[in-house]
Amino acid sequence: MKLYESKAKVYHDWMKVMGKDYKKEAKLLAKLIKSKIAKKEISIFDLACGTGEHALSLKRLGFNVSCGDLSDEMVSIARKKLGSCKKVDMKSFKLNKKVDVITCMFNSIFYLKASKELTLMLQSCYSNLKEDGLLIIEITNPKILNKLSKSTNSWKLKDCEIIMESELRPPKLIQDFIIKDSKGTETKEKHHLNVFPLEEIKKIMKEIGFQDIETKGENKLHIITSK
Ligand SMILES: C[S@@+](CC[C@H](N)C(=O)[O-])C[C@H]1O[C@@H](n2cnc3c(N)ncnc32)[C@H](O)[C@@H]1O
Repeated sequence: MKLYESKAKVYHDWMKVMGKDYKKEAKLLAKLIKSKIAKKEISIFDLACGTGEHALSLKRLGFNVSCGDLSDEMVSIARKKLGSCKKVDMKSFKLNKKVDVITCMFNSIFYLKASKELTLMLQSCYSNLKEDGLLIIEITNPKILNKLSKSTNSWKLKDCEIIMESELRPPKLIQDFIIKDSKGTETKEKHHLNVFPLEEIKKIMKEIGFQDIETKGENKLHIITSK
């Protein structure tokens, strides 16, 4: 996907223009994590970290943070901010050391193509967590997505414009992107997202052995579970 690869810098600017507040989101995560884990030193792995903004904010909040993404470009941008970032596939990653917390933010799990891939991702998370470790997945509440059905949005960035047409064809969310640069050159791409029903996510979590599954939030939903 170009938006996460050759256009990863565009993604970064787009999030800024969108007003996505990574610091605020990281503070919320920190509060959530501290309410569940009563340890001084807490290790976090941010999976599918994108440009590393959540990881950076969490690090600044005092956590021991590492992160990883599938896209080389994202990894390279995050590495500049954090010193290190691993190239990982969320379906089959193995960390050198198990961690207290794995976070996977902003609908990244919707890039998994089917339940089988979601199962592989959740199994990988399970095996990379310490005993009693915490997994936090953030998705847009499927209830809200289901209301969207069809929409067009556009954003003017520093060097280009992004136009996004979204259409929900359950369980798929199809996003057609046009990125127009200052010379008028258009880059087009289609994202096929899988809006997994909440019940399906919870069912697979339980089958793998995750416990105490709960959800918090309204528009943005945190699915929290422990090993
Ligand atoms: C919507 S972006 C979210 C990025 C970041 N978490 C954020 O909040 O900005 C989705 C991210 O998932 C990554 N991704 C997609 N498939 C992946 C996979 N199989 N393994 C790891 N990362 C993946 C993409 O490269 C992209 O950075």
